[in-house]
Amino acid sequence: MKIIEKEDYTELSKEAAKIIISQIKKKPTSVICFATGSTVLGLYKELINKKNKVDFSKIIAFNLDEYLGLSKNNKQSYNYFLKKKLFNHINIKKQNINLLDGSTKNTKKLCIDYEKKLKKHPIDIIILGIGVNGHIGFNEPGSKFNSKTRIINLSKETIKSNSRFFKNIKEFLKKAITLGISTILKSKKIILLASGKNKAEIIKNFLKGPITEKLPATALRKHKNITVIIDKKAASLLN
Ligand code: F6R
Repeated sequence: MKIIEKEDYTELSKEAAKIIISQIKKKPTSVICFATGSTVLGLYKELINKKNKVDFSKIIAFNLDEYLGLSKNNKQSYNYFLKKKLFNHINIKKQNINLLDGSTKNTKKLCIDYEKKLKKHPIDIIILGIGVNGHIGFNEPGSKFNSKTRIINLSKETIKSNSRFFKNIKEFLKKAITLGISTILKSKKIILLASGKNKAEIIKNFLKGPITEKLPATALRKHKNITVIIDKKAASLLN
């Protein structure tokens, strides 16, 4: 595992963008899985800033997770987020964007089909954040390390933490669709980003504590090609 400590959030975002851009330059047809949330926003801004220097037209995009029950046009959906914060600003082709649809009725089929698509297009690089409870995607504590794409009940901690994005939280924030941990681990390369003081405790437990399903991110420590990029505040409890 490679751990890169950066001075602050801006530097962290630039470092992450460098990795993604070099991946696309090396392999223009890269399959990239994108997270949402506040941590990745700086990275996406950086990618947009560099849009004249990078060709996104051949990449294939997947998203990591989605709230169940939200249509793709709902402003709180991750579908909307990724389009608004990244895809609408770069020259990615619409037909190369694969997003989970939270309004799907047949969720079982959705999960199976997504796994099939991912088998056909193995992920070259996946971008992850980490929840304050150690979740990756929406794999909440207790998620099996061999889990696949599925529906999951959101934990109380996640609901509390993500309620900052919702005005009308109670209706939607109960269940989500997420890539499973084993699905994430199949990615050829993983980058995980964490910024700020509120991530310091979980970063310490993620990197120094036991590998356990109680802290889903610890599964990543078994991966052969993972880079963790943290800023000083998120790293503050490491030494
Ligand atoms: C989002 C996701 C989540 C977030 C995590 C951190 O697609 O999968 O695991 O990465 O909750 O969220 P932020 O970055 O908002 O602290």
